[in-house]
Amino acid sequence: VKNSVFELYGIFGCPLGHTLSPGMQEAAFRAVNRKAFYVPFEVSRKEFLRVLKNLPRLILDGFNVTVPHKEAAARTLKYQTAEARAVGAVNTVYRQGRRWIGTNTDVEGFCRALLREGRFRAQGKQCVVLGAGGAARAAVYGLAREKAASVVIVNRNLARARRLAQDFQPLFKKTRLRAVPNTFETMKAVLNEAQLVVNATSVGMKKNDPALLESVWIPAAGKNPKLFYDLIYRPAETEFLRQARLKKHRTLNGITMLVYQGARAFECWTGKKAPEALMRQELEKALEQHG
Ligand SMILES: NC(=O)c1ccc[n+]([C@@H]2O[C@H](COP(=O)([O-])OP(=O)(O)OC[C@H]3O[C@@H](n4cnc5c(N)ncnc54)[C@H](OP(=O)(O)O)[C@@H]3O)[C@@H](O)[C@H]2O)c1
Repeated sequence: VKNSVFELYGIFGCPLGHTLSPGMQEAAFRAVNRKAFYVPFEVSRKEFLRVLKNLPRLILDGFNVTVPHKEAAARTLKYQTAEARAVGAVNTVYRQGRRWIGTNTDVEGFCRALLREGRFRAQGKQCVVLGAGGAARAAVYGLAREKAASVVIVNRNLARARRLAQDFQPLFKKTRLRAVPNTFETMKAVLNEAQLVVNATSVGMKKNDPALLESVWIPAAGKNPKLFYDLIYRPAETEFLRQARLKKHRTLNGITMLVYQGARAFECWTGKKAPEALMRQELEKALEQHG
């Protein structure tokens, strides 16, 4: 039974030990004077599917979905936004009357961070995205929606990169999408031409991860620094960003995207502008506490 004393939100995923969302979202609700709790629900795939089947009886006001359930949500939810359908992953679910709508706020998070913090307008630019998983699909969708001139997708599994390019090309006529293998010749040429290089792989999160780019592939910035944008937020500076910084390019890590994807979710749930600066402060505090 829904109560009128407080609102209830949550996040479904597994494992959830690392989630930074509850602190960030509860601070945002407090800031706009709404009494709300945000609870982590660590559930198996089977349990999550049961939740989705019983949405009319769910006592939550909205929720987030994270690894590994985002794709299952996209396959199951009847109502979805265009970006959730295209990306094939739902990370936010909100109510609209009696309907539950699935969306993907990573797209908006990626774009807002790129524009506001990265001060990079994608329109007409040459971009490279490393990776072809869920985060890469959100990034490529965002860049194509902003009318980038081209997006080159590089992935260890080339077939997956090709599929991404083929899925999105029919949706975006102004952006040329292509997949290339991660070899010396192609990477040198591609990185030379690019104005933006995005790491949307998970490489760089762990200490002994392999190098994603060879340092010799990255040209010195000279008068035309590129923007290197890593979606990873822990550690704050990955090897990918360190190498770019040493060559004097501009860098942006994944913290801002994390804030803005959360801010967009908050806006879907409340219809109110999210207190972004405060959400960022909370997130940075939590990241500091968790090393
Ligand atoms: N800042 C944010 O708000 C935000 C939001 C979403 C995600 N992210 C970050 O984005 C990253 C990717 O997430 P995801 O959901 O897209 O994961 P995913 O769907 O599992 O995709 C992982 C990607 O990394 C590649 N990869 C993994 N290990 C590799 C290796 N050893 N060498 C080369 N490539 C490797 C995979 O290549 P294959 O296809 O060849 O396996 C794939 O392209 C994560 O670090 C996540 O934290 C950040």
